[in-house]
Amino acid sequence: MSFTYWTLEHDADGVTWATLDRPDASANTLASFVMDELSLVLDVLDEVKPRGVIFRSGKSAGFIAGADIEEFKGMDAAVGRRLMQRGWDLYNRLAAVKYPTLALIRGHCMGGGLELALACRYRIVVDEPGTRLALPEVKLGIVPGWGGMLRLPRLVGPAAAMDMMLTGRAVDARRAKKMGLADECVPPRVMTQAAKMLVTSGKPPRRLPLLQRLLNGPLRGVVAKKARASVAEKAKPEQYPAPYALIDMWQSYGGNALAVPAGQPTSLDTLINSPTTANLVRVFFLQERLKSFGKIEATGHATKFDAQHVHVIGAGVMGGDIAAWCALRGLRVTLQDQGMERIAPAIQRARKLFERNLKEPRLVRQAVDRLLPDPDGQGVRRADVIIEAIFENLEAKQKLFTDLEVRARPDAILASNTSSLRLGDISLALREPSRLVGIHFFNPVAQMPLVEVVRSTVTEAALADQAAVFVRKLDKLPLPVADAPGFLVNAVLAPYLEEAMRCVDEGIAPEVVDKAATDFGMPMGPIELADTVGLDIAAMVGKQLVSGPQGSQPGTEPPRKLNELLAAKHLGRKSGEGYYRYEDGKALKAPAGEVPAGLAERLIEPMLEAAQAIVDAGIVMDADAADAGVIFGTGFAPFRGGPLHFRAGR
Ligand code: NAI
Repeated sequence: MSFTYWTLEHDADGVTWATLDRPDASANTLASFVMDELSLVLDVLDEVKPRGVIFRSGKSAGFIAGADIEEFKGMDAAVGRRLMQRGWDLYNRLAAVKYPTLALIRGHCMGGGLELALACRYRIVVDEPGTRLALPEVKLGIVPGWGGMLRLPRLVGPAAAMDMMLTGRAVDARRAKKMGLADECVPPRVMTQAAKMLVTSGKPPRRLPLLQRLLNGPLRGVVAKKARASVAEKAKPEQYPAPYALIDMWQSYGGNALAVPAGQPTSLDTLINSPTTANLVRVFFLQERLKSFGKIEATGHATKFDAQHVHVIGAGVMGGDIAAWCALRGLRVTLQDQGMERIAPAIQRARKLFERNLKEPRLVRQAVDRLLPDPDGQGVRRADVIIEAIFENLEAKQKLFTDLEVRARPDAILASNTSSLRLGDISLALREPSRLVGIHFFNPVAQMPLVEVVRSTVTEAALADQAAVFVRKLDKLPLPVADAPGFLVNAVLAPYLEEAMRCVDEGIAPEVVDKAATDFGMPMGPIELADTVGLDIAAMVGKQLVSGPQGSQPGTEPPRKLNELLAAKHLGRKSGEGYYRYEDGKALKAPAGEVPAGLAERLIEPMLEAAQAIVDAGIVMDADAADAGVIFGTGFAPFRGGPLHFRAGR
């Protein structure tokens, strides 16, 4: 039987397959009409009385990506409550059906998709790299209110459930099996058979051990207290109310978001009315927008560009980590530097990255095999993308590209990772300057989601588009920017860091300056950030962008204390001392005193002004692109929706 989004098929063994396949979208999301239709599907199944029902996806990409977030845009409390009620009722109905149900999960299974699976009696996960299960609702400022808060703790124990729901972190297929979220983890070739066997097995549903049941019952308070403490380390309730609400809904209202009386600080209405929720939904769409810059169909140019081999030149801080990241993402990589002794440390670092991310020795070995030391630059002739990350020196870069242009394939992308040189100046040395594009990564490469894709006035547009497609292939977020000093991210960070250092010169303790910023919602204070970037680099960028002759405040001296530290060779974290001293890479901070009124505003203001100036100058395409870049390139307080959104709303 066929509906618009769901199909019901009864096989010879009496098992019914309920397949979701939205014909209007590449991934399955649970828009209102899909949920309404599921209700009809359950009506039919009530009549049929099947031997067992298996829910699966008709998409090769995944199971279900979650609710349709478009429906959260501009949502008010009444609409939010209605959406929540429908999901809660529908999944309770599914959980109560008489026949056995099973979710066959292959690929992503997120949010409302996982809640559907949780309402089934059994779950089978398919052992593939793309299989990932998560309840990421808190990242949007809401809670898994379609039964996730009720059922996940019962299935995997409350501590593991809280961890998943409060962080939004995804688990892979094997982990899902290990923690009890899935009953079985099977390879794709046996999944159909395994699902049929389990759904008709009559096996009782999984039951938690006694201690876990107690922690889920009379001892809830213990888990809730711990969860609150761990949330408090990362987020303030007035900035991120959802995780606090989630704990309360689980502890005191049986995981039913609708049961908390309106007006309470942890009620659904309070959450939906909080600006954080609207801003986090905004950030979700900003991220989608960045992704779209790297979609082949969106560019109109980059058809069929699918890089397989990357050649990286310069195995230092950046080049080494860029090469490692590319290999981790499955590309073949050749890494060139002036000798093996310079490449070896980068390979060591890469191995650590692979071990941390891939865990399985076989996969680690394969990644190591994809990353080849190449002191003679043999890879240049074959590479699809060549990334230069050598010293920040114009002549050296020009010389290198003159040579590369001759040896590289004519269709290869030639890219520089330069932070502070003009791309246009480097390209002057090329016979075809239009071939050079900037692909500007941030340090640390593995952790920073944003990559700026820089176009000089002569860069060929199609090439910049291809570069963005390549950046997406690396699972980073590409932001197109023009070739202006500091592009976007460094140009907004530099005046902010400089203002912070001037505050220290005025006698405000670094700890207080940093606390003002972290209280505002920054992931790290500006002084610690300067130490982390390296004070030599911070000083260079500052000179270029703020106090130097071409900077926004020509004629002003760099911050005094910064000069003193540099003279003493205290370069920050990497040298063990900067504004702070470091032990095992951690800043030794004195307790911060009271933050003076207005300090956070003073620190942030130069950043907001710089972001506006960059939009006005056309360096990024619009204010939303700037907000997206600053959030994903600096960690700018996501709950505030971005610097320019914040500025406009003050
Ligand atoms: P680094 O000093 O750590 O590494 C540079 C490496 O390039 C050295 O290993 C050196 O031996 C090698 N090298 C120099 N000339 C070479 C040549 N002709 N052929 C082959 N190898 C050569 O420098 P880092 O920090 O990695 O910076 C590299 C580039 O990345 C610069 O353009 C910088 O502006 C940019 N960048 C740096 C960031 C940072 O935080 N360090 C962030 C983003 C971009």
